[in-house]
Amino acid sequence: MTQPIKERDYFTDPGVLRDPYQYFEEMRPRGPVCQLETHDCLLVTGFEECVEVLRNPADFSSLNSLASSAFPLPFTPEGSDISAQLEAHRDKYVGGDMVVTYDDGHHTNVRALISLMFTPSRLKANAAFMREYAGELASKAIADGKVELVHTIATPYVTMVIADLMGVPPEDRTLFEAKIAEGQTVGSINDPDSPTDMSVVYFIAEFMGRYLQERAANPGEDLLSELATASYPDGSKPDLIELISLSTFMFAAGQDTSAKLLANAMRYVVDEPDLQQQLREDRSLIPWMLEEVLRLEGSSKATHRVARRDTKIGDIAVPAGKQVIVALAAAGRDPKRWGDDANEFKLKRPGIKQHVSFGRGSHTCAGAPLARAEVATMFNAFLDQTDNIEISAAHHGARGARNYEFEPSFIIRGMDNLHLDLQAKTK
Ligand code: HEM
Repeated sequence: MTQPIKERDYFTDPGVLRDPYQYFEEMRPRGPVCQLETHDCLLVTGFEECVEVLRNPADFSSLNSLASSAFPLPFTPEGSDISAQLEAHRDKYVGGDMVVTYDDGHHTNVRALISLMFTPSRLKANAAFMREYAGELASKAIADGKVELVHTIATPYVTMVIADLMGVPPEDRTLFEAKIAEGQTVGSINDPDSPTDMSVVYFIAEFMGRYLQERAANPGEDLLSELATASYPDGSKPDLIELISLSTFMFAAGQDTSAKLLANAMRYVVDEPDLQQQLREDRSLIPWMLEEVLRLEGSSKATHRVARRDTKIGDIAVPAGKQVIVALAAAGRDPKRWGDDANEFKLKRPGIKQHVSFGRGSHTCAGAPLARAEVATMFNAFLDQTDNIEISAAHHGARGARNYEFEPSFIIRGMDNLHLDLQAKTK
């Protein structure tokens, strides 16, 4: 017998993992903001309501954005404003020392450092690396006539691109690649007591500490040198620990998310009737395709907030201390925002850029332009060198009855593997 939807655990249920969209559609009739039966937290599925929460950092702390809403608060909330209690317990939260969980002035200061990092000249040099490396990876795969995209192409590609941008020495890049490849997912559905293992992050942090000290003493042109010598807007200097945390997060945040987005997009392009041909004929459609894939199947399913004050979402009262799942994947398919065809793929959908797959407000993804460039560059490399790309029916079944395995994460949406058959260009 199928389990009633209200009893299914968003954080551990394999059925929710396979089809989170169906879970959200079944929860939607309970209202855009509803209380879960399985956990003491709210689930926000409405587009407007998700935007409202993300745009209200004064009332909603980001402290649990990585730790999630799966666990009770590590203290008993007292009164109508628990901001001070939350800060006092920051060290109890996974990722509490990472920018994505910061609030208020601390976040504003660190975010200002990020904006120094993506200078036009640095991005231009990185774009050249991206094109060259994408071309190399694609041509090797195409020579074989087939490829498993996630591990052979997407993951090494995004690791090397961010390593190049940041100025990680080439001799260390493969070390990072290997460590990331063996790492556990974030938000694992299989490890409910400790779903986010930070060991890869700590591994990278050690290297970042060394690089930052070297670059502070002997700055070059790269992003790590920029960080090592940066000041906050008020002229004061960030301490080394803060810089290590930021550079490590920048390096790690776009790994799995970007790799999975590339695979999600490839799946749509290859399986949506005529789409591959349309893109072959008109490459200017690639960004449109990408935004629509982000809306329908972005690689971050949800982020989390905790109400720091008694507040509201729409007209629903939210007491201080209540945790909130901001379901980005549900917002992307909210028929109130996207219409009756919200579940369908549609190129050039009006207002598509307003999707929330990179978040919204002060914590909006800092790496969104890089992620978009990475995926578009790899698509161009594949389309340049092939006449046709197919999903491997031998691995995933025939069109209309495909099988995919998904990364067992309540945060990331993406396939564990994607096997493709590749037909090289003949003329
Ligand atoms: C498809 C790829 C990506 C997706 C779907 C994605 C998604 C997101 C989302 C939803 C947030 C907001 C979290 C929140 O509000 O709680 C975020 C924040 C962030 N992302 Fe990404 N991301 C991607 C790639 C990247 C890349 C490539 C980088 C780095 C180069 C990056 C760096 C960051 C940083 C630093 C933040 C925190 C910003 C802040 O707290 O102010 N992301 N990302």
